[in-house]
Amino acid sequence: MEVRGMIFPLVIFVIIGSVRGLNNGLARTPPMGWMSWERFRCITDCEHDKDNCISEKLYMDMADRLVSDGYAAVGYEYVNIDDCWMDMKRDENGRLQADPKRFPNGIKALADYIHKKGLKIGIYEDFGTHTCGGYPGSKFYMELDAATFASWGIDSLKLDGCYTDTADIPIGYPIMEQFLNLTGRPILYSCSWPAYLKTPNYEAIAKSCNIWRNYGDIQDSWDSVQSIINFYGKDSGNFSGVAGPGNFNDPDMLIIGNFGLSYDQQRVQMAMWAIMAAPLLMSNDLRNIRKESKDLLQNKGAISINQDPLGIQGKMIYSIGKIQVWNKPITPVGNFAFAILNFGDGGPGSQISVKGATLGLVDDHGYNVTDAFTGEFKAAVKPNSYFNLTVVPSGVFLGKAYLLK
Ligand code: GLA
Repeated sequence: MEVRGMIFPLVIFVIIGSVRGLNNGLARTPPMGWMSWERFRCITDCEHDKDNCISEKLYMDMADRLVSDGYAAVGYEYVNIDDCWMDMKRDENGRLQADPKRFPNGIKALADYIHKKGLKIGIYEDFGTHTCGGYPGSKFYMELDAATFASWGIDSLKLDGCYTDTADIPIGYPIMEQFLNLTGRPILYSCSWPAYLKTPNYEAIAKSCNIWRNYGDIQDSWDSVQSIINFYGKDSGNFSGVAGPGNFNDPDMLIIGNFGLSYDQQRVQMAMWAIMAAPLLMSNDLRNIRKESKDLLQNKGAISINQDPLGIQGKMIYSIGKIQVWNKPITPVGNFAFAILNFGDGGPGSQISVKGATLGLVDDHGYNVTDAFTGEFKAAVKPNSYFNLTVVPSGVFLGKAYLLK
């Protein structure tokens, strides 16, 4: 562990250690919003690519769209800046500054703009010496950076873990949590802590972070979405168990509305992010999106499963061949959401006949099952009766089961 930068933070840590634990009251349900990274990456050449470059205009455009196109009304509220927003140098007082060409009015003005729309603003930094894109990291500056973000009116911080000594990670992330708490401003804390470790201590992570990335970066492809779902299905170390109001595993951004997924694959992402109680952070171009993708992103049935107040992360409870069954308890207690997923890659679809008990529907009173995307009634199902349906390849059935009592 670096001694130079750590002495002061460690002292603070010991002094306020008795009030440890993230206590910002945020993310009682998975946060919803928009984030630039997957779609807009680190494009900094605004002269040649003014619509796609990381600039205040991009975030203002997205804030406008969130409100004007109905996303805010269904819950999407964070506009999250990702990497490459900074100037390569800190100012003469050591404070971070935005790139002056791309953010001519600075982050505070952007935050004011976003707040006036009734939205919240998130920012990106890194726990190490540099961000993953090579911009100045927070190492040796954590307290100052937390204070700077608070002074700008920032509502959410994604703290990445590139250019770190991994041994510092379990110590350093809670220190940033303390510095965020000390600002007095509730700032949602998104940690990349487990993504950089082989065997993360999820209990410790959930004490310090609201959400946390624990798998590689999502890419605009079906392969990528499948590998994330399979990782969450395995649930090594039972990381689903620490999720709940205030704390959620983050399988990364929604890529619905981009280029890599068919319509059915987009339905899979929406359904599974709902079941996994995942943050719903879209990374797409809201100025240029097909209606079918927009409707999916705004589907109230899927969103209500994701935002269920119990905050329970759904689990894979059964799999056979390329078919997976997932189940998530929802309110009122006794009800469930479930997903039947087909990872097959050929044919007209699998005819599936599955017992209620295999879907996790074990109460003898039985359940009314609806299609969560459409609200359409499908069947009354008992633990020993069969639910019959066809699920197309790279497709999903997202159900809601209402207990009959
Ligand atoms: C890492 C993160 C991504 C993104 C990039 C930015 O790869 O996991 O989500 O923030 O850094 O450089």
